Amino acid sequence: MSNKLSDILKGGHRPKAQFVEDKELQRLMEALNTHDAINALLQNLWEKDPYTYEHSHRVADFAQWIGKSLGLSSQDRVELYVCGLLHDIGKTVTPDSVLKKPGPLTPEEFSIMREHPVHSETLVKTVDDIAYLAPAIRAHHERIDGKGYPDALVGDAIPFLSRILLVADTFDAMTSTRVYRKEVDVSRTYDELIRCSGTQFDPEATRAFVASHQKLLDGLKPGKLAA
Ligand SMILES: [Fe+2]
Repeated sequence: MSNKLSDILKGGHRPKAQFVEDKELQRLMEALNTHDAINALLQNLWEKDPYTYEHSHRVADFAQWIGKSLGLSSQDRVELYVCGLLHDIGKTVTPDSVLKKPGPLTPEEFSIMREHPVHSETLVKTVDDIAYLAPAIRAHHERIDGKGYPDALVGDAIPFLSRILLVADTFDAMTSTRVYRKEVDVSRTYDELIRCSGTQFDPEATRAFVASHQKLLDGLKPGKLAA
């Protein structure tokens, strides 16, 4: 099977953005499919690590729920979407021996892994019309208590889009099955997000995510689908 992104798109493999009811936002997101530089970056990510490629699309989607719930503008939401797609693009630079290691990382490997936001920033800066999003992408592992990386930024010093991404990223990482651990169930993930709201996570973004995700799950319960 070909793994060219253009073929993947034709085959419908690329996950579609969910819950995009705003026509202007939909138009902007569709325009991304023809953005050669973004697609080239995403193709590299797909070839390097399909798990991270798919994770990035889920994060971009989850971040949209938060953006919608917070009433962000279409422009902010499309920026958030691009940041979601490309936040881990720096992992294309991370050695396979670290990125795909089927077990816990050594301290040295862990520090190599933690370089990926800086690599993401560098790669996004190479694309002129999205280069201004590089700081938000660099900061996607910053925590509001200052214990994040790579710059240990605190509170409002962290771009708001990055604070949204961290919630979406953590939710997906906790609910996905990896070779070295099983996924955590959704309600335990909510508990963890809420427990760490105000230290690791932005409280506003956390509340918005849990409320909108719960609303979605309630809507998907049997018997509600026909409503
Ligand atoms: Fe990351």
